[in-house]
Parts: sequence; C-alpha cells; structure tokens
Amino acid sequence: MRSDQGQPVRLSDYRVPDYLVDAVALDISLDRTATRVRSTLRLRPNPEGVAGAPLDLDGDELVATALRLDGAALDLALATPDRLTIAAPPAGPFVLEVETVIDPTANTKLMGLYRSGSAYCTQCEAEGFRRITYYLDRPDVLSVFTTRIEAERDDAPVLLGNGNPVEAGAVEGTGRHYAVWHDPHPKPSYLFAVVSGRLDALRGEFTTSEGRRVALAIWVEPGKVGQAGYALDALKRSMRWDEDAFGRAYDLDVFNVVAVSDFNMGAMENKGLNVFNDKYVLASPELATDADYAGIETVIAHEYFHNWTGNRITCRDWFQLSLKEGLTVFRDQEFSADQRSRPVKRIADVRVLRARQFAEDGGPMAHSVRPDSYSEINNFYTATIYEKGAEIIRMVRTLVGPDAFARGLQHYFDRFDGTAATVEDFLGCFAEASGRDLAPFFRWYVQAGTPRVTARTHHDAATRTLTLDLAQDTAPTPGQGEKLPFVVPLRFGLVLPDGAEQPVRTGEDDGLSDAELANDTIELATATRRIRFEDVEPGTIPSLLRDFSAPVRLVTDATDADLLTLMTHDTDAFNRWDAAQTVLSRLIIARVRDGGGDPEALRTVFAAVVRTGRHDPAFAAQVLALPSEGELAREIGRDVDPDAVHAAREAVRGAVGRMLAAEFRAVIAEGAAAGPYAPDAAGAGRRAFRNAALSLLAAGDPALGAAQARAQFDGADNMTDRVAALAVLSLIPGEAREAAFAAFYERHAAEPLVIDKWFALQASIPERSTVDRVRRLLGHPAFTLGVPNRVYALLGAFGANPTEFNRPDGAGYDLVADAVVTLDGRNPQVAARLLGAFRSWRLLEPGRRALAEAALKRIAAGPDLSADVREITSRSLG
Ligand code: ARG
Ligand code: ZN
Repeated sequence: MRSDQGQPVRLSDYRVPDYLVDAVALDISLDRTATRVRSTLRLRPNPEGVAGAPLDLDGDELVATALRLDGAALDLALATPDRLTIAAPPAGPFVLEVETVIDPTANTKLMGLYRSGSAYCTQCEAEGFRRITYYLDRPDVLSVFTTRIEAERDDAPVLLGNGNPVEAGAVEGTGRHYAVWHDPHPKPSYLFAVVSGRLDALRGEFTTSEGRRVALAIWVEPGKVGQAGYALDALKRSMRWDEDAFGRAYDLDVFNVVAVSDFNMGAMENKGLNVFNDKYVLASPELATDADYAGIETVIAHEYFHNWTGNRITCRDWFQLSLKEGLTVFRDQEFSADQRSRPVKRIADVRVLRARQFAEDGGPMAHSVRPDSYSEINNFYTATIYEKGAEIIRMVRTLVGPDAFARGLQHYFDRFDGTAATVEDFLGCFAEASGRDLAPFFRWYVQAGTPRVTARTHHDAATRTLTLDLAQDTAPTPGQGEKLPFVVPLRFGLVLPDGAEQPVRTGEDDGLSDAELANDTIELATATRRIRFEDVEPGTIPSLLRDFSAPVRLVTDATDADLLTLMTHDTDAFNRWDAAQTVLSRLIIARVRDGGGDPEALRTVFAAVVRTGRHDPAFAAQVLALPSEGELAREIGRDVDPDAVHAAREAVRGAVGRMLAAEFRAVIAEGAAAGPYAPDAAGAGRRAFRNAALSLLAAGDPALGAAQARAQFDGADNMTDRVAALAVLSLIPGEAREAAFAAFYERHAAEPLVIDKWFALQASIPERSTVDRVRRLLGHPAFTLGVPNRVYALLGAFGANPTEFNRPDGAGYDLVADAVVTLDGRNPQVAARLLGAFRSWRLLEPGRRALAEAALKRIAAGPDLSADVREITSRSLG
C-alpha cells in the first residue's frame, strides 16, 4: 500500500498485513537537530497473511544507526531512507530493535517530529510515523505503545505522550529529565504523538458517567493561558454531550490538548494527546471573532469525538477515511446544533458544503467519498471525504429513522470496538438494525458527482390532484462516465398559499409508501418518479428537500412568487432561507445575462426579513448574506466572467442597501446598545445581523457606510465588530481604508492570528491593484512561507478572491502558481492545498480558461515536483 514513484495506490490491491505488532516500546531522546529514537517492536507473523513473507517496514527520509533482531545485530544496509526489509524473519514471534536519528529543526514538511515555536511536536496522520522510525505504517496494524521521552529539563520542561503517565524523573548527572507514558488501547501508528517544550497549561477536571476522574489540560505557549478558557469549556461540554447523545465515555485518566502555531491542517486526534493548530484553541473577545469561537467549539468537539469514531474504531485502510471523518463531522455538527441554533447551524453547514464540496464534485478533482485510488493520501482530506461523508450519515438517519439509527450505531460500537473497519462494516450495522437493504444506497460512497434533482408540478383543478414529476441525473466525473441513480431522501411538505400546511394524501397509483408518508420523506431511488397528491388546493407549493435532506442540486419550477411564499411561510427554516437564496440568485444571474432583474420586487419580503431579525437575528443574517460569487458562477455553469458576476452581485447588494437603508440604519443603531461581549450564540446572532446590515448599507451608500464602519471600528470592544467594520472599509477605495488597515496592524502586530485576518482581508479586495498589494505583503516582516496559517491567510485568501485570482490578464494565476512552486520544496501539503484555487478553472470564459491552464501546465512542468502537487496538477489538467 505505497505510492512509490507516483504509482497510485488502489483499494483493489488491499491485502492484510503479513506481520502484526503486539507491542511497541519507544525511547525518544529529544534534541533540536539530532533526536535519537530507539524502537523495540514485538512482532509475529499474521496467521491470516502470507507465511514466510519478507518483513517490509515503511520509512521516509530516515537514517538508521542500529538494527537488532532477537538481540543479534543486523547489517545497516538493510535500511534505506524509505524502507527496511528483512527477507526471511523468524516463523514465530520475534523482537526487532531499530535506532534512528532525525532532525526536527530541518523538518519543514511538518509531518513526523518537528519544532513549532518553543516546542517539539508530531503529526503522524496519515503517513508521518514513518518519518520517526521504520514501522508497518498502515491503519490496520494496531499495537500497544509505551513511550519514554527524554529532553533537556530547561529547554523542554513538559513531556507529553499518548495514554496515561507512568513515571517521570531526572536523568542522573545530566540536565535532562524523562517521562514514560503508556497507552493501553491498541492503536495504529497514525495516532501516535509526542509533545515537549516550554508550555503553560490551563487545567480542568471531568468525571465521566462511568465515574472516571479525568485530568484535563490545554497546553499553550507561555503567557497564553488566558486565551485557553473557551477551549477547555468546549472540551467539557463535548465530553458530556458524547455521553448523553451517543453513550460514549472517555477511557483514559488524562486528556491533553496542545496548541501549536505551525500546523498543516486544523487539528489531530492523537490518543489522549490532541494536537491543534492554535487558531482552533486560542480566543479572547479582543482577539477572536464569533466565527473563531464557533470554529474552536466545533474542532475541539470533532477531535474529542474521534476518540470513539476513529481511535477506538479506526479505518482498515485510507480509502475508508470517511468512515471516521464523515461520521465525526456528522457528530460535531450535531453537537454544535445542540449548543447553538439548529436551523442556523444547518444553513451554515450547507453553505460550506455548496461552496467547497459542490465545487470539488463539479471540477477535475471530483472523487467519491470512498475513492478507489490515490497517489498521495494527504490530498484526500477533502470536503468530499469530510462534508459529503457527513451528509451520507445524515441520509442514513433520515432513511432508517432515529431509532434504527441509534440501534445501528450501538451495534457498530459493540461489534467493531478495537478494530480497523470498513465503510461496508458500518453500513451493515444499519442494514441489520433497520432490516433494510442498503446496497443501492451504497452508491453514495462509490459514485462521485452531485446529483441534480428536477421537480415539475402540475395541478389539475378538476380532480384537485397535484402531480409531481421528479427526475435525477448526475454529470460524468473524471473516470466515471455513467452514473446509476442514487437513493435520494427528499423531506417535503405541501405549503398552501396562506402558509398553512396541506395534509398529504396520495392514491393507489403513483402514491407514497406508508413509511414515506410517516417520515414526510419521498425516496427517489430511480431516474424518474411520478407522485400524485390528492385533494390538493389550487396554488399549493411543494416544499422539497427540507432541512437539506440530501446533498443534491434541486431545480424546481417554482415561480418567484412561489419562492417568496415559501420564504415567508415555510415551516422549515432551511427552506425559508433557501427560497430567499434562489430568488436572489435568479435576480443576480438575470443581471449578468442581460442587465435585467429588479430588486424592487423584493422590498416587502426583505423588509419582513429585517423585522424577523428582531427575534431571530442569526437567521436573518443568513438571509441577508447573498449567494457567493462562487455559487453564482457554478449556477451559471459555463463561460463565466467573474467580473460580470461580481458587478451584478454588487449592484443587487447596493440596490437592497438603498431600498432598506432606513431599516438597516435602525438595526445598526439598536445593536450599538447591545451590552458587553459574550461569545454565545445569541450575542453572535445579534452581531451577525447588525454587521450584515452594515455591509448592505455601505454597498448602497459607500460614504455613509464608511462613516458608520469607521465609528464601529474605533468603538468596538470586540474583534467580531472590529473586523466586520474593517471588512466593510476594505471594499471602499481611498485613504480611510488604508488608515484603518494601518491602525489595525499597529494595534495587533504582536498577535499572528489577528494579523492573519489583516492579510486575508487585504488579499480579498476586489480591485486590480490587489495582486500588487499581495506581492508586496509577501515581503512584509510579519509574513513567512514557513507557517501554514500565514500562507493560508494571504495566498489562500487571494486564491479565493473571485475577480483578482481570475484577472483577465492571468497575473492572479501566476502569483499563486509561483507560490506553489516555491512552497513545494518546503512543504508539499501546503503547496497542494493552495492549488485548490484552481479547482473551478474549467467554468471560466475561454480567455481566462487558457491562462489558468497555462499556469497549471507551468507548475506541472517543473522539476522535482512532490507527489502531492503532481497529483493535483495532473488531475486538474487531465
Ligand atoms: N484527522 C485529522 C482531523 O480531522 C486530520 C489530520 C490530517 N492531517 C494530514 N496531514 N493529512 O481531524
Ligand atoms: Zn477528523
């Protein structure tokens, strides 16, 4: 299961390992440039593997300094940097001892053991453990780990490992000390971690439902414990919630979370020792926004929930990645929905799904939730594996119902605890619990692409029947020309013109099953289906895909008037929001096409939305956030001119801003007296509403907007309002904007996570001068290509700037391409993620398309490309 020389790894090649590891003892002597790792592996042949097979251990840039088999020295030539092969190991159990020396300071890939700030830390998922020592580095090899960590006491007073602490002490006669950690739960190597350095802890305690007292600690850079409180609180709430909602209790005596400033992704669920990108831990009202707080809550929960869905039950191979990621995202979404407003959380999640996953599914990187091949597994930590994976779990719950869903999960935990499982194992539990054949449903895992569901209605006044004709089709994706129909659960209701719910009755032919009627869910499992509703009032509007019950694109024949009715009356909050989005999207696209589309028709309903903002501001804020330029581009579908989309969207924002100026000014004025900041959902909703009003007001009247924004910028007692004001100012060219950016920098220069907001806002300005501004900022003293967060803030934000990344002269593509090439030599994962900017290049008009293609080809032609970047460029061009 390796990807040497760019050979793809295939699911169909899976074989069980030929050897098993009963126990691992690691002795890690930390040193900034020469860390010595002694590994003692108790191995034995796997009775299910090939007898007498060679033992083939994975390595990556390793140097072996000693090898012993059952105590006898082996020739060091058996070890190359990426492989240790023992041709004929003993037929029974044996002990292999391996010593390697590694350089954490030189590790710029941030995989394996590396330095971050004042600490040593590790990242082993997916294949980082092999950069520490030779191992069977695959998730289906589970073992019990004991780790001794040794370091200079002054340089590294804190020594953390997986599991429980066993002993600690001084190393006599030296300035060094050590600690031993033992993890009783067998685990794959990707869950291994070590952290050591100068760190401060915010401590807490949690008693589980089983009576276990757990010592909690959030470890941060010295001086930052004041910013760890929210993370600790979110952790305790997560632990309680997993007991209440899923019956899952924690299983060790300690739980440590460490925040580091250099981290490729969000965070990592190492057993008992989660390591986090510090942006998902550190928060204070002056430094973090409401969105940052929500992100911390979600990611803390996500990594904690992995303890059961990922760690106790892990994946057989990396093709099953969504087994743990999709399920754990589903769990963190449910947690956040319970902690905050459920409908608003659902809307926010669907926004992310549409923006990222639909874009992925509609582009050259489209892949199934369970892919069948990859070259570089790190490229598959995608919105498809995570977010679409979560949608699949949600559909299972909708289809089998909450009771069978709960029984199926219980079954999964009972049966697969302590094992490395597959997606089939998981679905089998729900098939069994519900008595339902889930084989057709399994297509969601193996077919890529976003299905399009079309709905046509016809009401017959004479018979009072409403005929609903449904059809689904899925465009081909790379390597998958033909698609079979998906099982699409469509939650629905029939809405009368006055908003009342029309009772649902169907007849003998073309009716719904009892289960469908009981669940208010149509199951569309064939290419087309006709449903006839009886005794239906004229003017009744079907509300389909309630709560976004399936990850599909729904196209209906609803008129704008129908949508305004749904927007005002639907009992389903998601569809109220989605109807508004559709109306707005139609309006903007009409402007792109022929300059038509008059927002005046929206005046009454939008004024009503603003009024509902008084009691549900978070929801109103979601309605007032227009569909993004990316979504509009996908809706247009081909030959997109991003400048035209931007201009049309801004024109509509401006018109709405002028039309409702009085209402927005009232919202802003009322919000100003809202009281002191607290990061709770209610307060966050009020701020989101007010800031949405400010943004639209400024779009309609830039001079007034700038004045209001500057006042808010200067007077804010929290980062949410300050950065929202700066975002408004950033769109209005002139001295006021530059002065605000300068003041912001001055105030927060010492806080890299805040300066990331400063970088990102500047990179997002929709003006031709932005590309020069970004090139200038690349040379700013606060910028470095060495820290992933800085790269994502400046270059990632620029890559997401629709008009400037897609400049008609190609200068935006060149800027990102240059950065990708430079970064690739240092951190291929980060370089590959930046390339995501190119995911929708085929939607563009021919001029830009040619320039984007040329930039991709230039990257692809470079020498010494990493497997990461090579795979993305070749897929993007393929
Ligand atoms: N399992 C981690 C998370 O979701 C992601 C780690 C991925 N890291 C990587 N380098 N591929 O929670
Ligand atoms: Zn995860």
